[in-house]
Amino acid sequence: MPSPQLLVLFGSQTGTAEDVSERLGREARRRRLCCRVQALDSYPVVNLINEPLVIFVCATTGEGDPPDNMKNFWRFIFRKNLPPTSLCQMDFAVLGLGDSSYAKYNFVAKKLHRRLLQLGGSALLPVCLGDDQHELGPDAAVDPWLQDLWEKVLELCPVPRDLAVIPPGVPLPSKFTLHFLQEAPGTCSEERRAASPDSRGPPSELQPFLAPMVANQRVTGPLHFQDVRLIDFDITGSGISFAAGDVVLIQPSNSAAHVQQFCQVLGLDPDRCFTLQPREPGVSCPPRLPQPCSMRHLVSQYLDIASVPRRSFFELLACLSAHELEREKLLEFSSAQGQEELHEYCSRPRRTILEVLCDFPHTAGAIPPDYLLDLIPAIRPRAFSIASSLLAHPSRLQILVAVVQYQTRLKEPRRGLCSSWLASLDPGQGAVRVPLWVRPGGLAFPETPDTPVIMVGPGTGVAPFRAAIQERVAQGQTGNVLFFGCRWQDQDFYWEAEWRDLERKGCLTLVTAFSREQERKVYVQHRLRELGPLVWELLDCQGACFYLAGNAKYMPADVSEALTSIFQEEGGLSGPDAAAYLARLQRTLRFQTETWA
Ligand code: 2AM
Repeated sequence: MPSPQLLVLFGSQTGTAEDVSERLGREARRRRLCCRVQALDSYPVVNLINEPLVIFVCATTGEGDPPDNMKNFWRFIFRKNLPPTSLCQMDFAVLGLGDSSYAKYNFVAKKLHRRLLQLGGSALLPVCLGDDQHELGPDAAVDPWLQDLWEKVLELCPVPRDLAVIPPGVPLPSKFTLHFLQEAPGTCSEERRAASPDSRGPPSELQPFLAPMVANQRVTGPLHFQDVRLIDFDITGSGISFAAGDVVLIQPSNSAAHVQQFCQVLGLDPDRCFTLQPREPGVSCPPRLPQPCSMRHLVSQYLDIASVPRRSFFELLACLSAHELEREKLLEFSSAQGQEELHEYCSRPRRTILEVLCDFPHTAGAIPPDYLLDLIPAIRPRAFSIASSLLAHPSRLQILVAVVQYQTRLKEPRRGLCSSWLASLDPGQGAVRVPLWVRPGGLAFPETPDTPVIMVGPGTGVAPFRAAIQERVAQGQTGNVLFFGCRWQDQDFYWEAEWRDLERKGCLTLVTAFSREQERKVYVQHRLRELGPLVWELLDCQGACFYLAGNAKYMPADVSEALTSIFQEEGGLSGPDAAAYLARLQRTLRFQTETWA
């Protein structure tokens, strides 16, 4: 390959930005451009001053925050002492991925674009705003933007004429080669590794702690539609430590039934072991995969066969298909014109990779194993708010998990991979171990002993507040006000006995909103309004901190609205002043939120 050096750097939270970056990498390779694709935090950021051409692909998460894997980069690039000519050698373009239902839509991409200009970089194109809310997803904005991008890039880095573009129907070489071994089943290194964990440093993504699950208890009543579990892990000897507000990351696996089905459709022997080798220099093997590795391990622990495939999956599958009819359909799904149909077939009903492969059996049965890692993304860890405190439950880590299950037009219900997997584990059946590690969460509680806290946590949103209340009570902090909402007192009132006990001891003020026990819905924000004078007094006179956790859909906006109307009614503020008051609380970290979809 010739030398023009294109660098694609991404900040990705759920994997979309990574996927788009990989697509950029593939499209560059088709155009015979040399291209590196890297997560922002794994790139030595000081080297940016030598980069001629960089495409940044950045997601924006809930509150306008950068994804976790670009947080260090974010801090660095906004350092005040960077000279305004730092990046004057660089041509750049920023592709943003966001969700226009959030107030700070694509905030990270827009802010980065401005900052790169400030540092002397030259923008090839205006920032691309990919929108999750668009009927066709982010591709609606990304596709035309990429076309313009390649024109600009090829003007800057003309490719020698004798190197033809690799046409769309031809597969690029796979990133890795799999070398199958003759080793007997059961002796692959993953078994050896599980038996002797290497215990350097605290557990992390690359070195999770295999935590014994000691309880897995349904906490919703039999009449409730939702299965919510209180799951308890023993973390003795793990080196794990955490405080209220922190989150635990859990690495789930595919079900044995799905692994078997996948291997069957692809004609793979789950007991075969292989080693993995990168095909190109500069590419490294996924560090999470042991070497050698069994096919069963790869499929159960690594390949996200239960996820909904993206367009790139269909593009590659079409290239690999030798079956005329199937190939034709796959080509249609991967074309720009076929996107609406693909949406109807795949994204809308949430059809999974495994299900799609079953729909294209001739193609699936002939996929070269070398391409498995190009075709199927890696299973991502899932984050849960920790619901217990080490001060109340030493050596334990508890979470509250709503088991995700819903119906689409497909016959089989859709199930969340991680929550269903956790719910399926039975601690009574011998040693059940779950790979996990912790990281700081988005909520930090006041260290000053006298600062009161108001916590609003309907449903599973109460989880981080149980940790906070346990921690604060153990430290003698009594100014704890909890607004909890659920449907029915006798069906989904998590930890009622604990709260009542703390109320009796004078450590907690509990305010409940049971939404379905009367004709009209009663939610936490209604209770907040009723108690407006108390809320105002705590916030304005006693310097309280306000916390909000739970479902991101409507609740956070509704609660914020209730607060601003309290500021107006109780504090006598005008509308704009009330909004400014809330913004100030946010800026000074006296109003913090942790929400999830
Ligand atoms: P509902 O399901 O009866 O509508 C936990 O899920 C609780 O949060 C339930 O009582 C649920 O009520 C309630 N809830 C639903 N939407 C809400 C919103 N926008 N604001 C606050 N609470 C809400």
